[in-house]
Amino acid sequence: MTKTILLLPGDGIGPEVIAQAEKILNALRATGKLDVRLEYAPIGGCAVDAHGTPLPEETLALAREADAVLLGAIGGPKWDKLERHLRPERGLLGIRSELGVFANLRPAVLHPHLAEASTLKPDVVSGLDLMIVRELTGGIYFGMPRGIRTTEQGEREGFNTMVYRESEIARICRVAFDIARRRNRRVCSVDKANVLEVSGLWREVAENVAGEYPDVALSHLYVDNAAMQLVLTPKQFDVIVTSNMFGDILSDLAAMLTGSIGMLPSASLDESGKGLYEPIHGSAPDLAGKNIANPLATILSTAMMLRYSLEEAKLAEHIEAAVNRVLAQGLRTVDIATSNDRTVGTNEMGDAVTAALSLTIT
Ligand code: IPM
Ligand code: MG
Repeated sequence: MTKTILLLPGDGIGPEVIAQAEKILNALRATGKLDVRLEYAPIGGCAVDAHGTPLPEETLALAREADAVLLGAIGGPKWDKLERHLRPERGLLGIRSELGVFANLRPAVLHPHLAEASTLKPDVVSGLDLMIVRELTGGIYFGMPRGIRTTEQGEREGFNTMVYRESEIARICRVAFDIARRRNRRVCSVDKANVLEVSGLWREVAENVAGEYPDVALSHLYVDNAAMQLVLTPKQFDVIVTSNMFGDILSDLAAMLTGSIGMLPSASLDESGKGLYEPIHGSAPDLAGKNIANPLATILSTAMMLRYSLEEAKLAEHIEAAVNRVLAQGLRTVDIATSNDRTVGTNEMGDAVTAALSLTIT
């Protein structure tokens, strides 16, 4: 049966990198090995411009009906001055929340050919393969109450609430433990339990869930120490599980271990495995329209989509192999290039991966 993929190009470099994912999907369709229909909808700033809202009802309806959703990026200076409810970020947070995609998987893998691209010494990062499991639909991003109020003294104060229910902590921990079972059976839970009550509960629940997984080792780190350990000895980690905001911060950090944030894909899954897929980089307005952005994070997100939501693990492997092949050939976008490398643009990189894929698959 034909499955539907909803493409949400969004803003900035989003449309350029999604165009490369489309080439990959179309190449797979052409072989007859993938039976999908592609649909398109606006989200973020472009949706504000066209429809007056960052998450139009129609986009949400299409996303609910689709078998999987692939998103480029949202946001840019053009929309930064808008009221908060109209900001592009609201579109992204809204679709994550409405689709209930609470489990955000952010793998940080160093491609063998890119050890030189990291700012860390090659021996610290070579062979790096860790998975950050970030809670995505709760915590301080969504907690109530929130706002800006005026005190009795007439001064304004801003406030947000970091809140987690036991069930929310337990379900994200189970995702992390299940993933660890398919890897090296180690989970590190990251919190700030020395200061925050919500983290104290997080730690307690993580311990309880660990009881269901006697074959997986659980450890805990405070988030400040985790940030330090990630730079010091990143290969000590297998799976990291953490809350929404800590995961946001640590995943950018982990991205740089691999050389460029332009390399890292992500999957956000709901209870049934349906997903929203996005590169973890943002809309990079300064790079937009210049054909220089790295499309590999989006192409690798496409692979994750095939694996996790479309039951096409073999095709996912083919895409990943094609990416490895073009990297081995020495193709580099500017973000992953060292001084001697010849660089290629977004389109050329997309074409090269598509060509490498077509070679292996037919
Ligand atoms: C991310 C981004 C988003 C987040 C922003 C754009 C709202 O930084 O996906 O990591 O904070 O979740
Ligand atoms: Mg982020």
